Amino acid sequence: MLKGKRILLGIAGGIAAYKAAMLARLLVRAGADVRVAMTEAATRLVTPVTFQALSNQPVWSDLWDQRVPDAMGHIELSRDRELIVVAPASADFMAKVAHGLADDLLSTLCVARRCPLMLAPAMNVEMWENAATQRNLGVLRDDGVLIEGPVAGDQACGETGYGRMLEPAQIAAGIEAFFAPKRLAGKRVLVTAGPTEEPIDPVRVLTNASSGKMGYAVARAAQEAGAEVTLVSGPVSLATPAGVARIDVRTAQEMFEAVKKRAPSSDVFISVAAVADYKAKNPSTQKIKKANGRPVTLELEENPDILAYVAGMKNGPFCVGFAAESEKLDQHAKEKRATKNLPLLAANLVQDALGADTNSIVLYDDRGEHPLGTGAKLELARKLVEHVAGMLPQKK
Ligand code: C5P
Repeated sequence: MLKGKRILLGIAGGIAAYKAAMLARLLVRAGADVRVAMTEAATRLVTPVTFQALSNQPVWSDLWDQRVPDAMGHIELSRDRELIVVAPASADFMAKVAHGLADDLLSTLCVARRCPLMLAPAMNVEMWENAATQRNLGVLRDDGVLIEGPVAGDQACGETGYGRMLEPAQIAAGIEAFFAPKRLAGKRVLVTAGPTEEPIDPVRVLTNASSGKMGYAVARAAQEAGAEVTLVSGPVSLATPAGVARIDVRTAQEMFEAVKKRAPSSDVFISVAAVADYKAKNPSTQKIKKANGRPVTLELEENPDILAYVAGMKNGPFCVGFAAESEKLDQHAKEKRATKNLPLLAANLVQDALGADTNSIVLYDDRGEHPLGTGAKLELARKLVEHVAGMLPQKK
């Protein structure tokens, strides 16, 4: 998929720079034409000779390099590129790009680019969580910069938390997804994600522990595959994937209304949300007081089943359901697919999925079972989207 693709691999000054060597190797092995540009700090961590040997091309780090004939290196070196990938992207480098600073070769190449830019951030957890870094991240996303990672885990500094760069193979998978044929081009995909919140009184709610990560990954993967994606999201603290239209809802009823409105014009509906099955029948308008030791009864009534409604629509979209089970995955998944009359169902165990960045998924359709294996939610989402694309009617 990467054969002949012209990529500029930028390396900023972070200890994860040593992993960029493996990334360069993977890209070259996949047939890409990789040109490497390093910041001065990066050259202190890994030598340019390493990247020269891996990419079979000269490595660039100096804005004043006299090897570029017309002294326009800051423009020339990225002009013929189809994608710039900076891995690792340090906190400093993200700040520079977010503000359009161009005081060395790599940052200048980013500001002068015509092609898309992908950053794989890598830094200490405190640097990642710093308000300025998070602000810059928001700016970069709004500017359409593609962000790969970071993930949580052990860090070279000895601390643990978010800021770890994705593994080279995962970054390479993101680059492949960028170049992959847009199998959902021209398709409208509607995705629900996250939990819903059902009020009991003005301060209390019934909800569940869904983080929304799987649904957001599915929305991103569908967008990468060229679809026009609308994401109807319950309350979560996640950033909207680039290029995705997001509608925030709170209750199952609100989610139902938002989906009902958009389902008729959608080609695909992927229902990842953990919709609350029940809501309080008569939510109190005032805060309910303590009952002084007496038991309290809460009367519940069923919420609408959004997915079953859409799956039952005449000429409705192609429907994909999710089943999160705590046991007997196979049995429950098959039953759910049959009851809701779904062409495709993705099943996972809650123990594997809830709140985590990884998951294990098995798909069920008319042809049988298709295990997608275990991996990052985004990787699994890409496989799911690929499977959906293969099931849609082909244009003549
Ligand atoms: O809750 P349940 O296991 O039935 O969820 C299976 C599928 O149905 C999921 O895709 C979920 O998003 C969807 N669902 C829904 N509306 C509900 C309950 C579940 O759309 N009220």
